[in-house]
Amino acid sequence: MKTFKIASIPGDGIGKEVVPAANKVLKTIADIHGGIQFNFTDFPWSCEHYLEHGEMMPEDALERLQNFDSIFLGAVGNLKLVPDHISLWGMLIKIRREFEQVINIRPAKVLKGIRSPLLNPKDFDLIVVRENSEGEYSSVGGNIYKGEDEIAIQNAIFSRKATERAMRFAFELASKRKKHVTSATKSNGIYYSMPFWDSVFEDVSKDYSEIQTDSQHIDALAAFFVTRPHQFDVIVASNLFGDILTDLGAGIMGSVGVAPAANINVNGKYPSMFEPVHGSAPDIVGKGIANPIGQIWTAKMMLDHFGEEELGSVLLDVVESVTNDSILTPDVGGNYTTEEVTNEIIKRLKIVE
Ligand code: NAI
Ligand code: MG
Repeated sequence: MKTFKIASIPGDGIGKEVVPAANKVLKTIADIHGGIQFNFTDFPWSCEHYLEHGEMMPEDALERLQNFDSIFLGAVGNLKLVPDHISLWGMLIKIRREFEQVINIRPAKVLKGIRSPLLNPKDFDLIVVRENSEGEYSSVGGNIYKGEDEIAIQNAIFSRKATERAMRFAFELASKRKKHVTSATKSNGIYYSMPFWDSVFEDVSKDYSEIQTDSQHIDALAAFFVTRPHQFDVIVASNLFGDILTDLGAGIMGSVGVAPAANINVNGKYPSMFEPVHGSAPDIVGKGIANPIGQIWTAKMMLDHFGEEELGSVLLDVVESVTNDSILTPDVGGNYTTEEVTNEIIKRLKIVE
């Protein structure tokens, strides 16, 4: 029996609705499979926790999380209780940084039965590998002068180590997929970092002769996400470019409520963290209509990470059979509840095996 220890952090808002739903789905998978089990430990860290204790999570939180196989997070943020920069930096970003989750991966594909805002999307199925530790998101720089003469300087950091790490991750991923990696660059406009990015990409690609490559400037790439997303497989991007592209990816899928994501620790020192793209959705909290698919697809990414890829694809197939039969929450045009969609997925999982 293989046991996976999962730290479950529903967090705020609809996180408390979709994480229990996804955990129920995972439990069903374990029951059916027989050879694996998931041990969930729930942590109530959230904005409410902050109001009570003055901190998003306790001081020893990271020590407590360290020995889990993974962290399964819902969403963080409740502006009515705590300003966003405090809640996000006090938990989400702290975990990402301290646990060296240096890669962020976000797939985007058409789910059968879910309408993309693109008029006639061919079946796209792409995945963005985003460098998650440096790049444009740095705190190196400064301000000088005041008033009219005021100047802000923001430095982007590109190390060979982190750049190469993200690229190798993308190539490894592509080798299990359609064997194509696209590099998101802007070396025609950004003088130092992007030509450097291109040269590292060229070096790394030499180690993967079986993988096809191309390089696209980020502005053109953004347009291609809309006009021909089906032509992409794996895209590797810097922190900022990846951030923007992945939201575009969620957009062309039809709802942020279905988009999954993972923060990966690649050196194995710390657990990785799996959390959907969406936030706590305060406008629909408590109504029971949050789309659970983003969280459930995120659970599929966690299964893949555990080496249970077969179970992962069974799960996604079942999710797609449900969406294909128009059993959908309101964000994607249906009138089913979180619970109804979840229960339908569970019911069909039991039939598949
Ligand atoms: P949001 O993703 O929470 O909501 C944006 C829109 O999408 C809303 O209309 C919402 O109802 C809808 N939506 C989101 N998830 C959905 C789901 N599963 N099913 C159906 N509809 C869904 O983003 P917003 O409103 O900008 O942020 C709300 C809070 O969440 C803020 O405090 C923000 O900081 C936080 N946030 C946290 C994230 C995280 O934990 N990783 C990511 C994004 C935002
Ligand atoms: Mg973003």
